[in-house]
Amino acid sequence: MSKVTSSTLIKFKQEGKKFTALTAYDASFAGAFDNEGIDVLLVGDSLGMVLQGHNDTLPVTVNDIAYHTASVNRGCKRALLIADMPFMSYATPEQTMTNASTLMQAGATMVKLEGGEWLLESVKMLTERGIPVCAHLGLTPQSVHVFGGFKIQGREEDKAQQMVDDALALQAAGAQLLVVECIPSALAKRITDALTIPVIGIGAGRDTDGQILVMHDVLGISSGYIPKFSKNYLQQTGEIRAAVRAYIEEVANGTFPADEHAFN
Ligand code: KIV
Ligand code: NA
Repeated sequence: MSKVTSSTLIKFKQEGKKFTALTAYDASFAGAFDNEGIDVLLVGDSLGMVLQGHNDTLPVTVNDIAYHTASVNRGCKRALLIADMPFMSYATPEQTMTNASTLMQAGATMVKLEGGEWLLESVKMLTERGIPVCAHLGLTPQSVHVFGGFKIQGREEDKAQQMVDDALALQAAGAQLLVVECIPSALAKRITDALTIPVIGIGAGRDTDGQILVMHDVLGISSGYIPKFSKNYLQQTGEIRAAVRAYIEEVANGTFPADEHAFN
C-alpha cells in the first residue's frame, strides 16, 4: 500500500475521486482510521477544544501539536500526515521556519496555516526550504475573536472574491493543499474549480475535492453541540471502524455532505 502524497491527492482531483480526511491525535485512532482508508490525517489544533476542553484553539502550543503528531505518526502507515501550526506560531517568517521544522521533525509531512495574503512570504519560504504547506481559508478558528464568534465566512461578494484571490495567490506561492471551512457551497465550488491543487472542505458543501471532519464529531463524543456541517457516523453504524468506512463511502458516492450539512 503506497503512501498518500500531495501527488496522489492531485491525481484524485484530476480523476474526480472524492477523498476523505479526519483529525487524529493519537496512535490508536490514527492506526484505525489509516487502516480503513482515510487518505489524510490532520493533527488539528482542534485538540485544544476536543482533548483539552478549551472554548477555542488559542491556548494550543507547538509542543502540544508536536507531541500528538509524534503519536499519530506511529500509528499512520498510508495517510498523508498534516500538522496544524497553532496560534501565533507563524506570526513572522522566522518563527514560522523554526516552529514548522519542529512539527516536521515530530513526524508531519505537511503543515497547515490559517490565513490569506499576509501568509504568502511564509508559504513561499517554507516550500522552498522543503516544508509542504496546506493553507486554510474561510472560518479560520484562530481568528474567532476578530470574526466575533464562529460564523460562516464569505457571504458578501467582495469577501467571496477576496477568498478566491487569496486561494489563487496561496497556490502560486507554493501551497499544495487548501482547507476551506464554513463558507457557502457555491463559493467552495468556485474556489475548487479555480485551483489546480486539491481543496478539502468542512462545512463547505459537496463540491470540494475532499472532506474533513473532527473525529470526535464523527464518533458523536464531542462535548456540547455537534456542528451543523458534521455527522455522527457512530450512531448509524454502532462500531468505530464501520463508522469510518461509512464516512469514506458517503464522501466517495456524494451523499455526504448533504444539503442539511451545507451553507447556501
Ligand atoms: O483543527 C482542526 O481540526 C482543523 C480542521 C477542522 C480543518 O483545522
Ligand atoms: Na485547525
